[in-house]
Amino acid sequence: MTARDWFDRAQKEGFAIGAFNVDNMDIFKAVCLAGKNKKSSVMLEFSQGEVSYFGLKNIVDLTVNARQEYGIPILLNLDHAKSAEDCIAAVEQAGFDDVHFDGSDLPFEKNVEETKKVVENAHKKGLLVEGEIDKISTLSEVHNEEIDLELLKKSYTDPTKAAKFVKETGVDILAAVFGNVHGIFPVQPDLDIDLLSKIREAVPSCFLSLHGSSGIPADQVKTAINVGKIVKVNLNTELRVAYREAIGEELSENPEEYASYKLASDVILAVAAVVENKIDVFGSAGKI
Ligand code: G3H
Ligand code: ZN
Repeated sequence: MTARDWFDRAQKEGFAIGAFNVDNMDIFKAVCLAGKNKKSSVMLEFSQGEVSYFGLKNIVDLTVNARQEYGIPILLNLDHAKSAEDCIAAVEQAGFDDVHFDGSDLPFEKNVEETKKVVENAHKKGLLVEGEIDKISTLSEVHNEEIDLELLKKSYTDPTKAAKFVKETGVDILAAVFGNVHGIFPVQPDLDIDLLSKIREAVPSCFLSLHGSSGIPADQVKTAINVGKIVKVNLNTELRVAYREAIGEELSENPEEYASYKLASDVILAVAAVVENKIDVFGSAGKI
């Protein structure tokens, strides 16, 4: 099954596939293990920083091996690439299923132009393209500051603009913004489900993704999947937090241990537990 087949199925059956950011090898293994335990497809995704840590070719080779080793469908996504060239490099590398061109820093017309370039290249090779017009605020980390909700609302997706963007670029997936932010905040903004349903109506033939799912209560994520027919939910910060907590514990419990791989198994289990819980929330368990 291709990524398109998976998203079609997810939309029809009312679940979403988790797109989990991979910061390091332990998180890579944790996501694959959780998918296997839950009999779920998973999407591995790599942001610019994560790509420069692993290297593009290693990412593909590791994923190809993991598909065999874990025996589950593993989709591969380039996450928030800021240049069309980086997306095209991933397309050329072969092995990716989806590239996310994040042109949200560009003026609308330039974003359309660059996104179209990516779409042309990706579609020739059968890859899906995710596009973004409204900047998803902040970084995937734990924030201490409060969110300025009025300011945030200014960045929410305008359904009319979204329809124009999808029509002009031919993107397959739109990263919609309706209260979702990157990272965890002391008070997480609520998702604007009414706006989501308007976005859904405005782009009926385009898949929708939910970025910044860390910190959003499970019931809101489920409602978004249900109302918005969201098929891809991105998660990063909660994995980073679980990893940091687990590795911190391991180091303090084993002060004499210098072989770091010996500390890894419990860390992997701790991160996998978070992923398994998310797979339940997204409804993809048992769907392979
Ligand atoms: O693209 C990645 C995500 O949108 C992750 O967001 O760190 O809030 O989970 P998050
Ligand atoms: Zn994101």
